Amino acid sequence: MSSKILFLAGSARKDSLNKKLAKVAYELAVEQGADATFIDLKDYPLPIYDADDEVAGGLPENAIKLKALFVEHSGIFIASPEYNSSFSALLKNTIDWISRPHTEKERPLSAFADKVAGLASTSPGALGGLRGLVPLRMLLGNIQVMVIPEQLAIGGGMTAFDEQGNLTNEKQQRALNSIVARLISETSN
Ligand code: FNR
Repeated sequence: MSSKILFLAGSARKDSLNKKLAKVAYELAVEQGADATFIDLKDYPLPIYDADDEVAGGLPENAIKLKALFVEHSGIFIASPEYNSSFSALLKNTIDWISRPHTEKERPLSAFADKVAGLASTSPGALGGLRGLVPLRMLLGNIQVMVIPEQLAIGGGMTAFDEQGNLTNEKQQRALNSIVARLISETSN
């Protein structure tokens, strides 16, 4: 069966470097025959999580839509920007909303349990957002996501992509391809 893998970035910014990286990974997955979906979190705006909102109106429509996308994919690829040595508030807020049950029958963490994730990051700095992947890996592990060991952090992100959005460094392209290949093999049955 072909793998269903969801690709996203933890940035909503129009010219986001991490969106570019997630897009390159998505294209590599398509080339490898995966059933891949790319989403832009800018298309799913959510308020900052507040339990009072949840009690009053259930989950927001965009949380329900995102949750459905997570449920129907067995793999998740996240290109995660680093903010102050962690991952973005946007990514945390998204995860928090879609971790909430919205029907009585739903099992806990249904959007995440038994998923496989691949991680990468890029930033203009030298470390490429590497430090933000550490807490993201820990968070995902705690919500029952199996995070594959390979990861990629691309420093100097402002010059890492050409005008078409492709990675210019072949070594980085190969490393990204390996992460995608592992994600596909871990989610194929
Ligand atoms: C940053 N940036 C940043 N970069 C980094 O390598 N390490 C860091 O700790 C931080 N911290 C940080 C905090 C805040 C609040 C902002 C706004 C930015 C820079 C960041 O990597 C850069 O803006 C990226 O371009 C953001 O990712 P996208 O939006 O291009 O995907």
